[in-house]
Amino acid sequence: MPDKPWDGRFTQKTDKLVEAFTSSIDIDKRLYSYDIDGSIAHCRMLARVGVLTGDEAEMLTGGLETIRKEIEAGAFVYDDSLEDIHMHVESRLFDHVGPVARKLHTARSRNDQIALDVRMYLRAETREILSMLGELRRTLASVAETHIDVMMPGYTHLQRAQPVLLSHHLMAYYEMFTRDADRFRDGLKRIDVMPLGCAALAGTTYPIDREYTAELLGFPKISANSMDAVADRDFLIEFLSAASLCMIHFSRLSEELILWSSSEFKFIEMPDAFATGSSIMPQKKNPDVPELVRGKTGRVIGDLVAAITLMKSLPLAYNRDMQEDKPPLFDAVDTLKACIAVYIPMLPEITVNAETTCRAAAVGFLNATDMADYLVGRGMPFREAHAVTGKAVAEALKQGKELHELSLARLQGFSSLIAADIFDYLTTEGMIDRRRSAGGTARGNVRQAIAAAKAALSSEL
Ligand code: ARG
Repeated sequence: MPDKPWDGRFTQKTDKLVEAFTSSIDIDKRLYSYDIDGSIAHCRMLARVGVLTGDEAEMLTGGLETIRKEIEAGAFVYDDSLEDIHMHVESRLFDHVGPVARKLHTARSRNDQIALDVRMYLRAETREILSMLGELRRTLASVAETHIDVMMPGYTHLQRAQPVLLSHHLMAYYEMFTRDADRFRDGLKRIDVMPLGCAALAGTTYPIDREYTAELLGFPKISANSMDAVADRDFLIEFLSAASLCMIHFSRLSEELILWSSSEFKFIEMPDAFATGSSIMPQKKNPDVPELVRGKTGRVIGDLVAAITLMKSLPLAYNRDMQEDKPPLFDAVDTLKACIAVYIPMLPEITVNAETTCRAAAVGFLNATDMADYLVGRGMPFREAHAVTGKAVAEALKQGKELHELSLARLQGFSSLIAADIFDYLTTEGMIDRRRSAGGTARGNVRQAIAAAKAALSSEL
């Protein structure tokens, strides 16, 4: 092979600095198997439409398979002067099959080739992420089932608000991760479009059969516009956006695990196997895993911002700027997968201090809304009931007591509608189990939500 495929029109050799500067091989070599699969399908298609002979196609595909084995055996030599994975494969193909290698690049360009490779990569990774998210959601539902009796304070403004089941709290995350999965699944429809054969930007003069290439590579459809096909990266931005949202959900869950495992809360204890100690303070057990997940969320959001900023002013069609899409994409994929992978085994190992969470739910007037509801049940308008209860709270605060610790006589001083049954009404358990409105925290509802989640997960398989 000549030094560079474009040597013909150049009089100077590429400066070494430029070679290093423009090279993307360190990054895109991980696309090798998709690049080879795409080239094999392209060869078969070219043979079918008569652009290559059957023998030529055989030689080329044989050579490509040999290269795949070399790469997998770690026996492949990379070199900055060959720029990217496409040129590395093509150049090595010449070593294996000789001049026929020069026919491989007929009716395509690196612009449609990289679009194909990235789409194939992202399709496979999205499928894997969906299966990992399924496992995570299954874990959340099963941990929620284990802790179905654990009551805790629910918060707004990080102030104790009303009691909830820990399972209800966990199932809230199940819902978030389910929407994340839906977003990835939906994005897959737009990833799964075959761009090869759009060539540099305008299509090609050869009588190619793009539908056949798509069929060989398992794509349900081909891109409709050759310029769009080589210039579009919105499928990748959609993925990064779904990944950022998913990481934000992980980050919020992580923040709660960090808070809950602090001495101030003591709601949970992180498993030793998923925590680390301090090199100076012997007593410490730090929640490093959720902390790192929270930190990595910033990186993935940064990846999204890098990609959208990269694309915002690019004229059609391909621009070399677009080579910069891969570092953020690969980083986001690797980071998200690592976070899901560590959460799946960690969640079931977390110890829950049910006594502490339950005690916390009984302190801080979490039953004030229910006292108002009690009065409403006896005919008082809600606003009035709110005011009456507010006065009772003020009195209890003065006495350093909870509402249910005030005497019946004292409570009746606020309203004659109050009777002895108020004390049963104000228990944490009662408050939780009365919240039977659809989506509420009553145990029956949460049990149903867990059962629905399990049914949904088994039908996803
Ligand atoms: N390495 C390039 C990328 O990642 C592949 C396409 C290069 N095309 C070109 N005309 N230089 O985008």
